[in-house]
Amino acid sequence: APITVELRLTVNDATYPVTVDTRETLLDTLRERLGLTGTKKGCDHGQCGACTVLAGGQRVVSCLTLTVGVDDRAITTVEGLARDGVPHPLQQAFVRHDALQCGYCTPGQLCSAVGMLAEAADGRPSAVSEDLTAVPVLDDAEIRERMSGNLCRCGAYPGIVAAIRQVAP
Ligand code: FES
Ligand code: FES
Repeated sequence: APITVELRLTVNDATYPVTVDTRETLLDTLRERLGLTGTKKGCDHGQCGACTVLAGGQRVVSCLTLTVGVDDRAITTVEGLARDGVPHPLQQAFVRHDALQCGYCTPGQLCSAVGMLAEAADGRPSAVSEDLTAVPVLDDAEIRERMSGNLCRCGAYPGIVAAIRQVAP
């Protein structure tokens, strides 16, 4: 029989009481229970990155993350990247550089890039921040390598790399 637990999840600065099956993935909790459908289900096997979100500022593939394992960490999804109605600098850069076509991979690309820039800035996870001044110069090859877990079927990689390079001074 399924085992359920009651949790309080913090997502995008809001607290949600949820009752989840212990085997439930964070991806399904976000989409099916909380209605946060910005996070996409691609492969559901950890191979495409479409489901990437931030847990405690660190990027995770939510299809391989159990909800019961992250209730102690603040979750940020693509819906939480904007501040006071102003898109995150990366979101603005994605628009400016045509970094999307169908858009299916985009929420994962954005969350992954935010986490990646935090990793690059100080080598450890940090809170989601719009202060990108600490990010070191990353060349295109390094950006591609660091973003290699996020696939784009539309091949929008040149725009994605250009957008990330723009915010990584
Ligand atoms: Fe999670 Fe593809 S849906 S990595
Ligand atoms: Fe279509 Fe990336 S924009 S999959």
